[in-house]
Amino acid sequence: MRGLGIVFIAMAILAGPRAAAETAKNNYNAYCVQCHGLRGNGMGLNTDEMSVQPRDHSDAKSMSGRSDKELFKVIKEGGLAISKSVLMPAWKDVLSDDEINDLVGFLRDVCKCTHGN
Ligand code: HEC
Repeated sequence: MRGLGIVFIAMAILAGPRAAAETAKNNYNAYCVQCHGLRGNGMGLNTDEMSVQPRDHSDAKSMSGRSDKELFKVIKEGGLAISKSVLMPAWKDVLSDDEINDLVGFLRDVCKCTHGN
């Protein structure tokens, strides 16, 4: 069994950035889609009953208005941290800083944008 563990670790190292993107996608699918939608467009299942609608992460215009730092902060500490709705939960007890960083990268893929463009 120990040999197998070493193989897995080696695979994780070799997979590198791709593995991080995979993990981010899995985390997004696990924790974010119910509000932000399967394609990140803000059309999640929960949204019928929500007074503030979740951000459409595929909207390059509004997403490029946010820095990576702000995105990190709102995911880690919740909507209130950037003067947004409390309906956006804080994830600091669920996700590590690395996982949150990877999610920021994932959101940049979804919006096909960077800060300021
Ligand atoms: C319970 C519903 C809900 C869940 C689950 C949720 N969000 Fe949100 N999120 C919201 C709402 C509502 C807003 C908009 C808040 C506002 O505009 O005041 C928001 C806003 C955001 C924003 C801010 C965008 C901006 O520029 O204003 C980011 C980034 C974000 N969510 C990422 C995530 C990520 C990543 C996850 C999963 C780890 C997640 N959210 C899970 C409801 C949710």
